[in-house]
Amino acid sequence: MVTGGAGFIGSAVCRHLVARGGYRVVNVDALTYAGNLASLDGIAGDPAYRFVRADIRDGDAMRSILAEEAIDTIMHLAAESHVDRSIDGPAAFVDTNVVGTVTLLGAALDHWRALPEGEARSGFRFHHISTDEVFGDLPFDSGVFTEETPYRPSSPYSASKAASDHFVRAWQETYGLPVVLSNCSNNYGPFHFPEKLIPLVILNALEGRPLPVYGRGVNVRDWLFVEDHAAALELVATRGRVGESYNIGGREERTNLQVVEAICDALDARMPLAIGAPRRSLITFVADRPGHDRRYAIDPAKAEQELGWRPAHSFESGLAATIDWYLANEAWWRPIREGNYAGDRLGAG
Ligand code: NAD
Ligand code: DAU
Repeated sequence: MVTGGAGFIGSAVCRHLVARGGYRVVNVDALTYAGNLASLDGIAGDPAYRFVRADIRDGDAMRSILAEEAIDTIMHLAAESHVDRSIDGPAAFVDTNVVGTVTLLGAALDHWRALPEGEARSGFRFHHISTDEVFGDLPFDSGVFTEETPYRPSSPYSASKAASDHFVRAWQETYGLPVVLSNCSNNYGPFHFPEKLIPLVILNALEGRPLPVYGRGVNVRDWLFVEDHAAALELVATRGRVGESYNIGGREERTNLQVVEAICDALDARMPLAIGAPRRSLITFVADRPGHDRRYAIDPAKAEQELGWRPAHSFESGLAATIDWYLANEAWWRPIREGNYAGDRLGAG
């Protein structure tokens, strides 16, 4: 079972698992504003894939799906994922990320307890997909997050993910549910909802609209191509040790301004703006995000050494592939851009 499989990373996980073969994938998603079945068109007819519309906060629905589909592994990605939305409306993040995860844990525990003793019970996994943001803020010039870094979340989003991580660990310590966790840095790639920095900037730059950069653009993020994350998640779910967490990241730190400038230059090289001005001239510094963490940096050595995981994409090759994807897939993003989900942000600045 992949929860949140109609979202950005969840859909990449579903596509990855179906392409790998040997899995039966049940995508459980409530289809919020961030869920989009068009991201799954490529596998919709595959006998190894099935979609069920359901809400993780509905414990009875979760129990039925787990039993009817004879689930042996839960990869839990369903969440409210956007930091800015969590600042505007934190309650939904508590509701989905904390209460939703606890409800799913309850259903998973009942299901696990009903499994026959032996292989079925010991082989079951609840994999919680989490974020590096639970570790909080790093100085610009030093430090990396390891699996031992204490939690110090800054935003309502990261606080809700930290809480859900704690509940997942508590379900193992208290009830014995076999869990595994992973905490990943910023993903980017195809099918990324255009409220997030990279797709927002690609599409605004394409259309010659302002490119909103918070503060002075000096904040640093570590970037990972989403398909490399999906490959890591398969390894964590199938080979990760019970009770362990794994940090996943690309060792690709960039300031936000560097990211935005790279997108501008790549698009200028492909298709200059009709007015002839370089796209960097569209960069617009706007009010900073409250509580904006300065820097995130992940040490993925444990995943590399224990699971043999390595990302296949550099930031440069992944960004080029992402830009090409948005240029070729207007049919996917145009309806979202024309919707009214966050019109204030699309043209911010
Ligand atoms: P997303 O917002 O693109 O997708 C979230 C999905 O969850 C959507 O399909 C939505 O419909 C579904 N959903 C939301 N509430 C639900 C509910 N109550 N019941 C069932 N489904 C529900 O998110 P994403 O960027 O793909 O992130 C997926 C997960 O990975 C999240 O848990 C997030 O915290 C984590 N994560 C994201 C990143 C990143 O860079 N995007 C990095 C690290 C970890
Ligand atoms: O680190 C992992 C996290 O990455 C995930 O857990 C979150 O789910 C995911 O949304 C992402 O969070 P960020 O806040 O880092 O992503 P976002 O794309 O919103 O912002 C990236 C950086 O760019 C951040 O420093 C804020 C800045 N930014 C963002 C937007 C939307 C801008 O400067 N301008 C913008 O318009």
